[in-house]
Amino acid sequence: MAHIRNCRENTAFTFQDITMTLAELNQRFGISNHIRFTEISGGLIAADIDNAHASAGITLQGAHLMTFQPRGQEPVIWLSKYAKFAAGKSIRGGVPICWPWFGPHATDSKLPGHGYARTVMWEVLETKALPDGSTFIRLGLVETDATRAQWPHPSSAQVEITVGKALRVELVTHNSGKEVFTLGEALHTYFHISDVAQMTIQGLAGCDYLDKVGEPARRTQQDGIVIASEVDRVYVDTAADCVIEDRGLKRAIRIAKQGSRSTVVWNPWTEKADKMGDFGQDGHRGMVCVESANAFDNVVSVAPGATHRLAVVYSVETLK
Ligand code: BG6
Repeated sequence: MAHIRNCRENTAFTFQDITMTLAELNQRFGISNHIRFTEISGGLIAADIDNAHASAGITLQGAHLMTFQPRGQEPVIWLSKYAKFAAGKSIRGGVPICWPWFGPHATDSKLPGHGYARTVMWEVLETKALPDGSTFIRLGLVETDATRAQWPHPSSAQVEITVGKALRVELVTHNSGKEVFTLGEALHTYFHISDVAQMTIQGLAGCDYLDKVGEPARRTQQDGIVIASEVDRVYVDTAADCVIEDRGLKRAIRIAKQGSRSTVVWNPWTEKADKMGDFGQDGHRGMVCVESANAFDNVVSVAPGATHRLAVVYSVETLK
């Protein structure tokens, strides 16, 4: 396994148990006019992708895509202006990877909400320039004693990201053990929107959801989703595409998923966002989370030797 010894090309540097200099990382996985690795705030290492179709930034910590902007478009992904970049901390915005559980741990409240994948180190396994001009990167979660203590099941997690005109993110879980395990997961995607009052989410009418605001309750969605107060909902048994219609930006973002039966819709609204400390004043107005997940009723049983894939394509359409 590689070690990042040095982020500034040559100085000795160790980050968890990965060992490779930034120069070595670029030599092995950098591709000109496609992908380059750099050090960003907090000593984190990021893959900067810039190709004919789009630009994107991904930190190795968490395999966390922070930005995605197709050429000629506003950003598709929201990243808080007040996001904190630090080892072991989740970044507010982008596409946090929730794995191997979603929300609080089922039996141990001391374990981190949404699992540990978003705050641990991932290693680069492969990069490719694709024939259509897109850029591909595959990352693997680095297991340590700390991760094994939280998740004792022999398994592996990989994230595959393709940055083109559209963005494709795939979370791949393999059970390498002898026993079945139960997996909860989400691509906890934050979308950039003009203003929450200008936005409607389509695709979930008729779906049942768990409403997590106030006393938890089960309800049925009647129509498109309009947000004018805190929203925290887990829609279950839905494989449908969702479309974020943004009248302000005169565009729609399509979220097309495979291997996911839940969709989480979240906006913390004023009070909760203020408490979080990394949204900023009115930050919640310019974002909405539509998360492609397997949670609550839809956690997944992964049999020994089996591989489970959750894949999502995010694309921009003209608003009709
Ligand atoms: C959403 C949950 O997925 O993530 C919310 O449904 C939660 O309940 C939100 O508040 C943000 O979580 P975190 O851990 O990133 O602050």
